[in-house]
Amino acid sequence: MTLPILQTQRLLLSLLTLEDVPTFATYRNDPEIARYQYWYPVTEEAVRDLVEQHHRLPFGTQDQWFQFGIRLQADRTLIGDIGIHFLDSKFEIAEIGYAISPLYQKQGYAVESVRAMLNYCFTSTPLIKIHATCDSRNTLSMHLLEKVGFTQQLIRPNAIFLRGEWSTEVDYAFTREQSRKNP
Ligand SMILES: CC(C)(COP(=O)(O)OP(=O)(O)OC[C@H]1O[C@@H](n2cnc3c(N)ncnc32)[C@H](O)[C@@H]1OP(=O)(O)O)[C@@H](O)C(=O)NCCC(=O)NCCS
Repeated sequence: MTLPILQTQRLLLSLLTLEDVPTFATYRNDPEIARYQYWYPVTEEAVRDLVEQHHRLPFGTQDQWFQFGIRLQADRTLIGDIGIHFLDSKFEIAEIGYAISPLYQKQGYAVESVRAMLNYCFTSTPLIKIHATCDSRNTLSMHLLEKVGFTQQLIRPNAIFLRGEWSTEVDYAFTREQSRKNP
């Protein structure tokens, strides 16, 4: 698969670079952003490792996250990220995760980014199913997933113990067929 750069009305989505590392680590370590995330605290070193792997491994490598920066088209400011994790060797199933910096939330950027990633996955790759997993208290993320067409698959009560609290996980999925009905 060729490495995509996705363009929407207001955004450009392209793989994170080393220049993005400090900004990424800053907003990802904001307690509100990190609240339901497993990857916390985020060290600049770990982000640099991830970015370096992006350049070493072919896009689509199984069991690897590829993290895209979400950038304003106007001035290329990094306002968030959306990652895709390829789960099988046939490139048919993947999961996504995302975050938008607090300064840029509630402006429709997450919806615009997730829709762009889904459209890319179902039109330009062999992917047929995309998963996303949320903590059941993460109502903003659940609302976003349902808004773009994901459906709930499974609720796993007390699935993991995260920073001193049990987290109930909700699994969502969106298939290629659903994307045709809900473009
Ligand atoms: C979940 C998260 C990504 C949502 O990001 P966001 O950028 O605020 O989401 P959006 O702005 O796209 O959507 C939120 C609302 O803004 C509204 N909005 C405001 N201005 C808008 C505009 N100019 N254009 C379009 N929508 C606009 C949207 O309509 C939407 O509300 P609605 O769905 O009730 O209609 C964000 O809260 C976040 O980063 N959370 C922390 C990380 C996290 O939990 N990630 C998920 C892990 S599973």
